[in-house]
Amino acid sequence: MSTLNGQVAVVTGGAGGLGEAICIGLAQAGCAVVVGYNSSEGPARALAERLAPVALPHVALKCPVTDSAALATLAAEVQQRYGRCDILVNCAGTTRFVPHADLDGLDDALIDQILATNVRGPIAALRALKPLLAAPRDDGATGLVVNISSIAAVTAMGSNIAYCASKAAVDNLTKSMARALAPAIRVLSVSPGLADTDFVKSLDLAWRNEQASRTPLQRLALPEEVAAAVVAAATHLTFTTGAVIPVDGGRPLA
Ligand SMILES: NC(=O)c1ccc[n+]([C@@H]2O[C@H](COP(=O)([O-])OP(=O)(O)OC[C@H]3O[C@@H](n4cnc5c(N)ncnc54)[C@H](OP(=O)(O)O)[C@@H]3O)[C@@H](O)[C@H]2O)c1
Repeated sequence: MSTLNGQVAVVTGGAGGLGEAICIGLAQAGCAVVVGYNSSEGPARALAERLAPVALPHVALKCPVTDSAALATLAAEVQQRYGRCDILVNCAGTTRFVPHADLDGLDDALIDQILATNVRGPIAALRALKPLLAAPRDDGATGLVVNISSIAAVTAMGSNIAYCASKAAVDNLTKSMARALAPAIRVLSVSPGLADTDFVKSLDLAWRNEQASRTPLQRLALPEEVAAAVVAAATHLTFTTGAVIPVDGGRPLA
């Protein structure tokens, strides 16, 4: 029995490695999914077509999180197509590997791009969709925002120092958004450790294996496990807001 039947979810970065798994998970739970894309229009459309059919149609829509005017257009289109939005998953994110000591390698343009996408993006997406997310529902359910954070927020280990800081900011945003938007909208972070997406699989195998061996559960996260945490936030954690849900195999314990 699907539990999110009739609900509508917008997933930014929906065609990415984790975004795809999240879209699949939400559709399997009964949601109509808006697969938000920036540059990956083709993969986003293909994904929307192969998601599990639900009561309402899935769709791929342009969702550039650094462009607030485009986000307003997206919100208007969601309103027109569905008349509602129950779940926003802020999954869009960007980074590049720069050794933490290489401050010259971390140029201003990269810092600005990371902060605009990873920090301003979730705020801008929520700003655009807030009226729909906050709308009262017949069953008294709340709207839900899930910010995809990262273990880098707490370990300060990750692709570069600006990326780590951006994810710490995301977890902080989760708390202030949750306080400010209650009781109409719940806000959570789902915080993955390194996840075995196609991109991560393409990296150096020895490095990947080392990351797994440093994790108490001795492996990387499956994208499906990150998606399961997002779905659980909607289906089971109904009295939880402002919390950070780790999906990291215990990595910070090691
Ligand atoms: N993979 C991991 O191990 C891991 C671990 C912890 C946290 N995370 C977080 O999980 C999220 C997804 O990561 P991923 O591994 O799935 O990476 P990914 O495959 O590279 O996907 C990144 C997604 O972000 C979208 N994006 C980038 N810039 C954007 C912009 N300006 N506007 C809208 N969308 C934009 C891309 O959209 P287009 O392709 O359409 O351009 C893409 O779908 C990120 O927030 C990342 O920080 C990942």
